[in-house]
Amino acid sequence: MLLRAAAKINLHLRVAPPDESGYHPLMSWMCTVGLFDTLTIERAEGGEQLELAGANRGADDALVHLECDDPSLPRDKTNLAVRAAMAVIEALRSEQQSPGQSWPHNPTLLRIRLEKRIPVGGGLGGGSADAARVLLGLNRLLDLNWPMDRIRAIAATLGSDVPFFLEGPSSVVSGRGQVVRPLPPPRPRWVVLVLPGYGIPTRDVYRMFDEMRLGDRRAVDAQPDWNQWAELSAGPLMQRLINDLEPAAFALCPQLATLRQQIEQALGRPVRMSGSGSSLFTLFDKFDEAQDAVARITNSWPVRALATTVAPEPDDDLADRSD
Ligand code: C5P
Repeated sequence: MLLRAAAKINLHLRVAPPDESGYHPLMSWMCTVGLFDTLTIERAEGGEQLELAGANRGADDALVHLECDDPSLPRDKTNLAVRAAMAVIEALRSEQQSPGQSWPHNPTLLRIRLEKRIPVGGGLGGGSADAARVLLGLNRLLDLNWPMDRIRAIAATLGSDVPFFLEGPSSVVSGRGQVVRPLPPPRPRWVVLVLPGYGIPTRDVYRMFDEMRLGDRRAVDAQPDWNQWAELSAGPLMQRLINDLEPAAFALCPQLATLRQQIEQALGRPVRMSGSGSSLFTLFDKFDEAQDAVARITNSWPVRALATTVAPEPDDDLADRSD
């Protein structure tokens, strides 16, 4: 089964001070963008034992074998794609077995091949996108026919961005990320992504957010007129967008603050950070303008930049067979 996992940007991200558990309630308008990881998942036949490379692999890791073209990525349970597959296996294991059912008596091994194109630590939700696609993919591949609520419950345990990726392509997400409400995509259909080539750990950004005593509960609870926002063209929409994590990320990573400011000046338009950084973005109504911005950015700064679509049509084995 071939799966394509689209990255996301947080068009608008409001974050509250932490609750008793240390977690930060949030409210975000999230949208997928045309930058994809590709996953191939297959069920290894006949309980075949796979040769496991690498040290420190526990018995559970043997159930899910991940290959990845990016050697810097972990291939064990710390990889969200593996965690998603393991969560499905765990759920199956805990189910009462009916006689004659081969799963999980003869643990069917899964092979996942991951072509990583979404930068890690970029605030683009790559790991979460992969995990959500694995959950939906396994539901099909293993003929589980689980209702979406069951998949949503597993997704919420994997990370705050995972539930969004089950729905996409444009949604308002709140709470701990588990409340996802679809919204029409923004009118501007083009985005320029600036990928600085270094990641920022999400946890560190939230820690700095707390140290700086940032966040306002009222901003998280307030709901803008989303349908009106979705109608705006690029200029006025970009003016309204806020990311409450920017001051914390910029304090941790001053060169990102400088980069953002310089690109804003050069393009004469607002540039926002996605999620906890490091990626930056700005929306465009026209593809030519977006392409022109990419040329200007890559000519002046040592970063990757690309012009791509906002809320792309899904195009993989799940989309082809959607019911
Ligand atoms: O959910 P995710 O895996 O992206 O979160 C990574 C870390 O960021 C969490 O363990 C937590 O420390 C912090 N976080 C938070 N509040 C959020 C999202 C993330 O404190 N809303």
